[in-house]
Amino acid sequence: MSITAIAHPNIALSKYWGKREGAGNFPAVPSLSVTLRGMATRTRVAFDPELRADRFVLDGHEADGTRVTALLDRVRGAMGAPRFAEVVSQNDFPTASGLASSASGFAALAVAATRAAGLDWDAAQVSDLARASSASAARSIFGGFVELAAGERAASVVAPAEHLDLYVVVAVASEAKKATGSTDGMRRTAATSPYYAAWLEDAPRTHARLRAALLAKDFSAMGELAEASAMAMHASAIAAGIVYWNPATLAALSTVRELRAAGTAVYATIDAGPHVKVLALGARDAGIAAAALSAAPGVLRVFETRPGAAAHVEAAP
Ligand code: PMV
Repeated sequence: MSITAIAHPNIALSKYWGKREGAGNFPAVPSLSVTLRGMATRTRVAFDPELRADRFVLDGHEADGTRVTALLDRVRGAMGAPRFAEVVSQNDFPTASGLASSASGFAALAVAATRAAGLDWDAAQVSDLARASSASAARSIFGGFVELAAGERAASVVAPAEHLDLYVVVAVASEAKKATGSTDGMRRTAATSPYYAAWLEDAPRTHARLRAALLAKDFSAMGELAEASAMAMHASAIAAGIVYWNPATLAALSTVRELRAAGTAVYATIDAGPHVKVLALGARDAGIAAAALSAAPGVLRVFETRPGAAAHVEAAP
């Protein structure tokens, strides 16, 4: 059977950085994200008794399917008659747009593969499957504001997308592929950063306060904590020699600080790349942020996104 699923990227407000020791890809710290709308990964999975190996096509090109096969192996473990699959995946946003495609990619794959295999798994089981490949993907199974507790198998919803009139304004700081993937960056941070222990100690506190601020709809407290989480994550990585930032990142960061000093409540967050994602409440402040970021030196382009929906199987045409 062939199933197509759609999933959206998410952006972490309190960041996941670092894995627990041992197998299973469990984060060392809790994280809270918002699933985004307007961008999607669309993935079709077809198990086929004729195939002698998995086949993976990404954005129209045959691609390395090692991590795809690892997820499919887990699905095959639960399948009555294990078979190989053809997986065809398409991002409707450029891979270098600055929004992690691994989260939406593995979320869409987990939904499509379990359904194509005939497994009647609930969202928590599918989230657990996605987490084993990419912990941020566990969060993209759900819509709105989503949390993944440290050591938990699956993510869960904290608040629906409509909870806040949130805008995420993305300042694209480079079109290049990032130099250090997140798994490698986390491993090197844990192995050599003198600030990794401080990160592990602080992250759960920041997360708990951010979660409370979100539930209380206290946007400025939430924004300050989100920015603090990103700065602490990057400080721990930078101390291990892993610098994801470029000059445009710093220009966008100082633009955000200037806007704040002038009275606009906007806050920055940055993932394992140079792009700056700015949190704003309401269309007016988002527009102010977008205009200012467009003028920041080195920023290539700016786009706006909003909280979005859960991963789902595409309805038959
Ligand atoms: O799940 P991964 O391996 O793509 O790692 C995600 C790491 C960050 O994006 C930097 C933080 C996060 O919580 O999404």
